[in-house]
Amino acid sequence: MNYKQNVIVMGLGYVGCVSAACLAEIGHNVLGVDRDINKVEAIRKAQSPFFEAGLDNLIQKNVAAGRLQAGALDEKALGAADVVMLCVGTPSQPNGNIDLSHLRRVCEEISVLLRRRTKRLIVAVRSTVFPGTCESLLESVFAQREDVDIVSNPEFLREGTAVKDFMEPSLLVVGGSTDEAAQTVAGLYSGLPGEVSIVSLRTAEMIKYTCNAFHALKIGFANEIGSLASSLGVNPEQVMATMCRDTKLNISPAYLKPGFAFGGSCLPKDLRALTFRSSRLDLKLPLLESVLPSNDEHLKRSIHEVLELSGSRIGIFGLAFKEDTDDLRESPVITLIEHLIGKGRAVRIHDPHIQLDEIYGSNLSFVVSALPHIGRLLTRSLDELISSSDALVIAQKPTVAALAQMTASGMTILDLTKLPLKASSAKRTLV
Ligand SMILES: NC(=O)c1ccc[n+]([C@@H]2O[C@H](COP(=O)([O-])OP(=O)(O)OC[C@H]3O[C@@H](n4cnc5c(N)ncnc54)[C@H](O)[C@@H]3O)[C@@H](O)[C@H]2O)c1
Repeated sequence: MNYKQNVIVMGLGYVGCVSAACLAEIGHNVLGVDRDINKVEAIRKAQSPFFEAGLDNLIQKNVAAGRLQAGALDEKALGAADVVMLCVGTPSQPNGNIDLSHLRRVCEEISVLLRRRTKRLIVAVRSTVFPGTCESLLESVFAQREDVDIVSNPEFLREGTAVKDFMEPSLLVVGGSTDEAAQTVAGLYSGLPGEVSIVSLRTAEMIKYTCNAFHALKIGFANEIGSLASSLGVNPEQVMATMCRDTKLNISPAYLKPGFAFGGSCLPKDLRALTFRSSRLDLKLPLLESVLPSNDEHLKRSIHEVLELSGSRIGIFGLAFKEDTDDLRESPVITLIEHLIGKGRAVRIHDPHIQLDEIYGSNLSFVVSALPHIGRLLTRSLDELISSSDALVIAQKPTVAALAQMTASGMTILDLTKLPLKASSAKRTLV
């Protein structure tokens, strides 16, 4: 693959201008295009159109080297391009939805100028767009052009450190309508440190939103915990800095896997205490207050999915709030079972760590008060669960052997520990 590519960058705002200068810096031939003539003129004069640390130098150097130019988009320029990167704005509409008018317009402008072009072209979306946009908007504008490949290549730079962020990326993500196109765009970054994650078009689009939502959530979380700590006379910085030293459970992939609702003897109880005490301090912490309602909603979605299963005899694998424990306190599985019984389902349960005659204390009283006939619902073996059910529900991570046994039964299995990819909504047009 030819490492050095001819790239056109459409839109010379923060993302486009930095991308154009940095792509030129790592060896590509770049033409920057913007409908704002001032931005084009600035680059022609080897100046940055706005302040961004290090950008002026980079533009000067690459304009002088002839690798970076700015101008209008025309057939000739497009004829020479390998990749067109779309970096136009995607602002909010008054209702919060994303405004794709700039993106649509720039695609239509490109489409008109492509009429006489014969070689393949990659159109890569660097703007932040909602999952499904590449498929519905771009693929429809370029529907008549089988030689146009669509790529999603979201940008993760931060204003203020944009050049450094581009050159030392925190994440490189590329999704493509074809693998070859995705590999070509990934190849643009081969001079940079870090591995490119090649994913599907929609996944690439979704990852960008996920990152920004997570960043916003982290800031909100730190500010709420900080405000509470401060009100309690506790040093907020020390709390957060110490919390971040735990890279096993806190700053790590732990608890970041979509699956079943949480429960147990600690998380719900401690969140309740935290939000109760903060309300006593007249401190509104909407983020922390919404965690338990969010968990309840997630549990409701799981209950709904289980109720959709055909067959009236439901076998539940797992009763404790997670695997490898017999702690039943505030187990979401118990709430699930209460709902199933309420809706007339015959429920049997198997949990490898739970025998009724071996649990006692608050553990026993919790389960007996929620499910008085628990003794009749529990099976002694997985075989018994399978033979007495029409469908199986996995509510806690099974061992490899237990999963194999359930799979071998040939029965319908709903695994609540993993969120499924729903084909129907994946195909729906979301733009
Ligand atoms: N700013 C950031 O820190 C950042 C970081 C990552 C991703 N993003 C995303 O990148 C995208 C661009 O953000 P930005 O901050 O660079 O936007 P911006 O508003 O600074 O720049 C967009 C540029 O596109 C130009 N433009 C609009 N229509 C055009 C057309 N038809 N032809 C040529 N140029 C056209 C505008 O004149 C403008 O200069 C957005 O989707 C944004 O969400 C932004």
